Amino acid sequence: MAGKPWWQTGVIYQIYPRSFADADGDGTGDLRGVISRLDYLNDGTPRSLGVDAIWLSPFFPSPGFDFGYDVSDYCGIDPLFGTMADFDTLVAEAHRRGIRIVLDLVLNHTSHLHPWFIESRSARENPKRDWYLWQDPGCFGGAPNNWESVFGGKAWKWEPKTRQYYFHMFLEQQPDLNWRNPGVRKSAMDVFRFWLDRGVDGFRLDVANAYFKDSMLRSNPPALGIRGYERQRHVYDKDQPELLGVYREIRSILDSCGDRMAVGEIMGGMAEAVRYSRGGLLSLAFNFEFTDQRWSPRAFVKKIVAFEQALAGEGWPCYVLSNHDIPRHATRYGGRWTEARAKVAAAMLLTLRGTPFMYFGEEIGMRDGKIARAQIQDPPGKRYWPLYKGRDACRTPLPWNAFPGAGFTTGQPWLPLNPDFRKVNVGAQQEDPDSVLSLYRKMIWLRKKTPALQVGDFLAIGKSSDRALAYLRQTKSQTVLVALNFFDSACNLALKESLPAGSWRLLLSTHSADGAEPPAADRGIRLRPHEACIWEKT
Ligand code: GLC
Repeated sequence: MAGKPWWQTGVIYQIYPRSFADADGDGTGDLRGVISRLDYLNDGTPRSLGVDAIWLSPFFPSPGFDFGYDVSDYCGIDPLFGTMADFDTLVAEAHRRGIRIVLDLVLNHTSHLHPWFIESRSARENPKRDWYLWQDPGCFGGAPNNWESVFGGKAWKWEPKTRQYYFHMFLEQQPDLNWRNPGVRKSAMDVFRFWLDRGVDGFRLDVANAYFKDSMLRSNPPALGIRGYERQRHVYDKDQPELLGVYREIRSILDSCGDRMAVGEIMGGMAEAVRYSRGGLLSLAFNFEFTDQRWSPRAFVKKIVAFEQALAGEGWPCYVLSNHDIPRHATRYGGRWTEARAKVAAAMLLTLRGTPFMYFGEEIGMRDGKIARAQIQDPPGKRYWPLYKGRDACRTPLPWNAFPGAGFTTGQPWLPLNPDFRKVNVGAQQEDPDSVLSLYRKMIWLRKKTPALQVGDFLAIGKSSDRALAYLRQTKSQTVLVALNFFDSACNLALKESLPAGSWRLLLSTHSADGAEPPAADRGIRLRPHEACIWEKT
């Protein structure tokens, strides 16, 4: 698409490297595994998925307390995942296929085993002391304030040796950096430059709006919630004004290298996502209100329209349904209709105005795995079981085929394969024209050749309904209509706007083309059970 950057027109696919493909048989996915599957992702033909970029969750050296989100060297590769040579090969091989590479930078905190923190905790006089958030005890010798860890418990850890507390928003093995220290800021910017020089095309910024905390360390006011972190309003431990200057600096580094991007993982909801992506501060920001919706067209359209209005044309939306932190949407929404709903969800995600982010496995309608208590690896899962079982279930290995090891590994997988992997796997869906995978492929390739779907305006046209959703995507020269029936009975969706005059040509349906009824102004849009249809005005 002339004039629009790739990260607006393209589809971005998240790979959780531990679980994607294991080339060396140790049971954990690795970079060579990813390289071996690049043709599946995009070989330049509609036989492949056709994604435009991959976002790789962290593969940097890490003791693995938070499975790589605790980094001990920002410019290296953990031997578990391979070598720098493997990484360079991955970049070259991906680029050869037109696939961009997005890295996950975890710069809010480091691992407690990062050399910076080892130095910092060694003595109060150490030059790196101020690189982290060290504090004397508060009144009565307790923690400096009431801040809670996202993963449970107090966010301050007492260090007897130097008689101060340090702050950790996540695990105590993940101390938060002090972004007000110029050395920290410079070192972080050098990390961006290091990877840009190696050919990386963009970054996902982990907990991007928590880099700064209130300089006076004021306690957060209370809120209604179940777990500790949710029982506070996070006024003082994120969203501080200094953030904007850092984003501008990141922006200028990215801009100096051409069309590189940054997408922020923004803690909070739409308001925060909008604040940081308006005006192109961050290229994109995740709006997690979208993932919180129940399976209801009315609920989704409300969020879409609100996001469109709040961005007011000054930022580019992006949409995501699943990631490595939340239950997969096939599980959240599927019930008895996993496949049918996975298709409707895909048709929505891939036709909205905004960059679609996919999570590996959603293209086969993969559900969460089954994790017995003894198999739990995720720290918050261990801590809160059975109230909260952690994130392992959405991180189980991708089944490539029905053989032992599922084509994922020749060894013992690090998390159990899904019980249904013999049925739900890539191989089983590859040649089946009606599979979820085939629909994803068709949708993504259709999107590539349909400017209205990539960049066209969005206009909801169906009367607000609890069954179905319809919208137009329009450029000056093309009008496309998307209609989605969320449920398992046929429905007739009345129109609230008049249909643009003309006749309609079916571009794609989840059902047989024969039975698809073209939309008409008087009778509205008729949809078969769980049907998703895309029409173009001729
Ligand atoms: C982000 C990551 C999550 C991780 C946390 C701490 O929310 O997505 O997986 O545990 O940051 O780094």
